[in-house]
Amino acid sequence: MDQKLILTVSLLLVSATVIADYVRPPPRKTLSLPWGPKPASYPQQVHISLAGEKHMRVTWITDDKSSPSTVEYGTSPGTYSSVAQGESTSYSYLFYSSGKIHHTVIGPLDYNTVYFYRCGGQGREFQLKTPPAQFPVTFAVAGDLGQSGWTKTTLDHIDQCKYDVHLLPGDLAYADYIQHRWDSFGELVQPLASARPWMVTEGNHEQEYIPLLKDGFESYNARWKMPFQESESSSNLYYSFDVAGIHIIMLGSYTDYDEQSDQYSWLKADLSKVDRTKTPWLIVLFHVPWYNSNKAHRGEGDDMMAAMEPLLYAANVDLVLAGHVHAYERSKRINNGRFDPCGTVHITIGDGGNREGLAHSYMKPQPEWSVFREASFGHGELKIVNATHAFWSWHRNDDDEPVRSDQVWITSLVSSGCVAEKRNELRKILAAP
Ligand SMILES: [Fe+2]
Repeated sequence: MDQKLILTVSLLLVSATVIADYVRPPPRKTLSLPWGPKPASYPQQVHISLAGEKHMRVTWITDDKSSPSTVEYGTSPGTYSSVAQGESTSYSYLFYSSGKIHHTVIGPLDYNTVYFYRCGGQGREFQLKTPPAQFPVTFAVAGDLGQSGWTKTTLDHIDQCKYDVHLLPGDLAYADYIQHRWDSFGELVQPLASARPWMVTEGNHEQEYIPLLKDGFESYNARWKMPFQESESSSNLYYSFDVAGIHIIMLGSYTDYDEQSDQYSWLKADLSKVDRTKTPWLIVLFHVPWYNSNKAHRGEGDDMMAAMEPLLYAANVDLVLAGHVHAYERSKRINNGRFDPCGTVHITIGDGGNREGLAHSYMKPQPEWSVFREASFGHGELKIVNATHAFWSWHRNDDDEPVRSDQVWITSLVSSGCVAEKRNELRKILAAP
């Protein structure tokens, strides 16, 4: 081959490499976690969640039904200056009986402080850090986690990020009626979920409904108790909480959401209490996306969107985080299908790494409202810097490395004048019977 030909072939190869699409990895197998024998009173599946101002709920499971629901805690290792007594529950599901599920609220706790704690007077010591009282605050975000090899990679990447609270927009364990998978998921996430609060809402894989036999969400509600009572909701399937200057609302895609529903009434009551001078940012999570240009799950969010989007628009929601579609997509500020500077940024982040794999096919052409879309596993990081600015980034799992693949500065609707502009519209919609 003469030199000219070699050069031409080399250039062709290089340009082919440059223009080639990112090669998306196939799904990975479900992990099999080592299940070493432990004493029956040994705390397992420890996770924490925010439980009202300055309080945290500690949840764990013991095989021993007489094990106490107490948490000892303090700010120095091995020295526990406080003790809290909690409650417990358990459930049966066909041939499966759960362990004793303990829920114990600790506090009042100082902000931005490391606490050391022990569950039921047994086992190892854990440590947690409370969120700060003021900006900046950082959230890790990943939906549709499951418990595959990719889930492990996503969790490892989240562990490398300095975050305060984990947000999960539904589909946790992919137990799908097989109850011991809830237990293995609890063990898988324990290293992260025992150290930072995990705030979750439910997806279709949590439902586990059996006609005439089982109401939906029995295992989910027993194991992942969220602060619904603290936010005056009557259901664990929708609730809200504050972190520093951010009000976060968790909604349910699989419970009634029409204007006559309890969820809708609760949402109106919750929004009427939001004071944007105290919490300038308003964020909403639910499972099924309203804006989705992937071919998977098309239109599944339409009914909920028709019922609730006018209310969320009037309330000036800055950001919606959804899951369900196993891919990543970010929209412009949007309302009623069109770009609107006072609308909401919608992000679909159902790409945590579950065993079902990715949703590769997209509608063509890409809709005008869709800014970035890609079918890869990964996670998001949301840093709320101050009352006006937040930095969002999405990190693709590229050959097990986290690669920042999408990023954007988001300015709050308070700072752009939308909140003041739509004050009367919100008042009218909240006052409607
Ligand atoms: Fe889902």
